[in-house]
Amino acid sequence: MTRVFSGIQPTGEPHIGNYFGAMQNYVKLGEQYGKNALYCIVDLHAPTNPAAYQPELLAERTFEMALANLAVGLDPQQVVFFVQSHIREHSELSWILTLQTPVGELERMTQYKDKAQKLESTPAGLLMYPVLMAADILLYKADTVPVGEDQTQHIELAREIARRFNHTYGPTFPEPKAVYAQDALRIPGVDGQGKMSKSKGESSTLGLFESLDSIWNKLRVAPTDPARVRRTDPGDPEKCLVGDYHKLFSDDQTILEVYDGCRTAGIGCIDCKKRLMVGIERTLVPIQQRGAELRAQPDDVRDALEHGAAQARQIAEPVMDEVRGKVGF
Ligand code: ADP
Ligand code: NA
Repeated sequence: MTRVFSGIQPTGEPHIGNYFGAMQNYVKLGEQYGKNALYCIVDLHAPTNPAAYQPELLAERTFEMALANLAVGLDPQQVVFFVQSHIREHSELSWILTLQTPVGELERMTQYKDKAQKLESTPAGLLMYPVLMAADILLYKADTVPVGEDQTQHIELAREIARRFNHTYGPTFPEPKAVYAQDALRIPGVDGQGKMSKSKGESSTLGLFESLDSIWNKLRVAPTDPARVRRTDPGDPEKCLVGDYHKLFSDDQTILEVYDGCRTAGIGCIDCKKRLMVGIERTLVPIQQRGAELRAQPDDVRDALEHGAAQARQIAEPVMDEVRGKVGF
């Protein structure tokens, strides 16, 4: 049996990188695995980043991230969709796994090192982050974790943690493996400064709920293949973020036409961007409409999360009973 688990950080507004790199994959895996696909908004993780955590905004951000996932088509009746802090067992299992995890292994995590380096005083929570993440996955005995490449090391550690527990207390947890969204690993930012990421600010991102005017204003000035200095210079669409975006948003015929147009200088960059806007509009308008409907019915979102928590609890409670028994509590 395959059981999928993925944690979703309740940070800021999701962008098209999150959508193509993660959210769309959640929907697809949900259609495949139904109630064996668990998606959790990991609000307990958020405060490990003191720079990003604001207590008065956390509940709102959790709500917004839930809404965004529902708006792109995640079906809370089909999958198990819930909030981490609604299930107390995440914290409890995290503590039990912490007891066995060598500090040295945690200190080797590159994300920890990067983040700790920027802080004057490092909260222990930042060090423990990957243990809580392992607990999130193992609490449901999940074996399949759709994540970005940046999480590979954390998943490897979760496997180690599962192995260590099984060795001490007998077979309990499967060793989870990472799976990646194959075709959209790394969507470039619209500013041309590498990967699209909210940590780089709004100049990098095209938000899922951003107005089409605002998106066009960013796209209009986005850098294209630098070889195209004049309108008559041919370009290479494979070296252009607009070319990359066409592959995400446009139909096959449009992609053929604009790629050929770029290579032959038959189409200018502004026209190519305008044709991209057609695909962006076709993709984002329904998502934005669904988002607006849900925002007008916030109780529907909260009900969906409560329904999800009840189902998650049905899996988590017996696992935690088993763990307590083995550990001696
Ligand atoms: P951000 O980098 O904007 O802070 P997160 O780290 O919260 O985004 O990522 C949430 C999910 O979206 C992860 O699964 C991550 O792999 C995916 N993701 C984020 N940015 C991109 C991108 N530019 N291209 C593809 N996937 C992305
Ligand atoms: Na990130």
